[in-house]
Amino acid sequence: MTILITGGDGYLGWPTTLRIATQTDDRVIAVDNLARREWVESVGSTSALPIGSIDERLDAAREVHGVQNLSFVEGDLVEREFVDELLSVHEPDTIVHTAAQPSAPYSQINGERANFTQHNNLQATRNLLWGLEEHDLTDTHFIETTTTGVYGAPEFPIPEGGATMENQGERDEVPFPAMAGSWYHLTKSHDAANMRLAHKQFGIPISDVRTAITYGTETEETNADPRLSTRFDFDYYFGVVAHRFCAQAVAGYPMTVYGKGEQRKPFVALEDAVEGLAQLALADPDDRPSDLTVYNQVTREISIVEIAETIADVANEFELGVEVEHFENPRDEDETHKMVMENDRYDHLIGGQSTTFEEGMRSLLGTLVEYEDVITAHEDRFLPGVLTED
Ligand SMILES: NC(=O)c1ccc[n+]([C@@H]2O[C@H](COP(=O)([O-])OP(=O)(O)OC[C@H]3O[C@@H](n4cnc5c(N)ncnc54)[C@H](O)[C@@H]3O)[C@@H](O)[C@H]2O)c1
Repeated sequence: MTILITGGDGYLGWPTTLRIATQTDDRVIAVDNLARREWVESVGSTSALPIGSIDERLDAAREVHGVQNLSFVEGDLVEREFVDELLSVHEPDTIVHTAAQPSAPYSQINGERANFTQHNNLQATRNLLWGLEEHDLTDTHFIETTTTGVYGAPEFPIPEGGATMENQGERDEVPFPAMAGSWYHLTKSHDAANMRLAHKQFGIPISDVRTAITYGTETEETNADPRLSTRFDFDYYFGVVAHRFCAQAVAGYPMTVYGKGEQRKPFVALEDAVEGLAQLALADPDDRPSDLTVYNQVTREISIVEIAETIADVANEFELGVEVEHFENPRDEDETHKMVMENDRYDHLIGGQSTTFEEGMRSLLGTLVEYEDVITAHEDRFLPGVLTED
């Protein structure tokens, strides 16, 4: 058996690769074009935790975890010929597709980056889905981390998958993944629709994993050696909100809440995100899904203000004096939206969340204080409007 992990050098892809490779003797192949490293550099920032080259990462995985079944292929999934070769040579039984340009603010910078993001993400996924059909690999389990952002912010509890629509007395189950609020998020809405079509036309078994905002740096495997750390970004473009707040706390910079900040967003710890993907990738061949299944990869909804207050409380334990400041919201969003998201299927998959949000923030701050100098050297990157390229 062969498991292919796209985006294997990324924040989520690298620890997922380690978890999977350490739990199976099957062949595990990570694929990446290392673009995320360049994107973060292009906005003048860097990962707070130092990240080794891919070769250093692989050497460390072999040395520390005794992993012998893991290899890496560098390439761009937007190129059809590369994807064709990848699939025909390796004939994967499972693909965990995490490769994408994943930043909403980056996709919103200008039309060129909106174009780039949509082209990159859609073309990569289409190449893989059509590649499976054209190389007679339609039994391959295709698992993609889409995003909870495809649901938008509706005024009803968000189901784990489609919705029931009623019109003129008739009811039916319909997908509703196209309410995304950014040019990036909409790539995942399109991916969800394309996966549905690929399942219908080609019969490919699909797990559409709608990933929530993921926080934390630690998994059992990355913790084992600093060379195995996953990246941690904290700038306006690539740092997710909880990461940016923690970095601001460490730098002694006020935490910037946009607007009222009462809107609730869905979150999942890195450990719980990695575990779900590994469970799906390593499922016994007889238990593997043949259908299209949607998972809401979320463990909790939390308001932005609650996040800031939790981090401020935990930061006190590290003697970091932290203030919360409200800035005008650069995003067009309802600042009081109380999101509720169903997650029974995902919760069952991982056997319940492994840690609380507060514990996650404690562990994150404990790690980040060691890298205070890197964060303070880049603290002007907390706010939008700074690009070093062009
Ligand atoms: N991190 C989150 O909070 C979060 C939330 C929701 C959804 N997601 C989704 O999860 C996935 C992983 O996110 P992440 O935070 O790890 O992002 P990331 O940028 O760290 O990882 C994505 C990886 O894909 C690679 N990549 C991008 N385009 C590629 C291409 N054309 N060819 C080959 N490699 C390519 C990048 O170099 C990067 O290493 C993405 O699909 C993202 O949209 C992440």
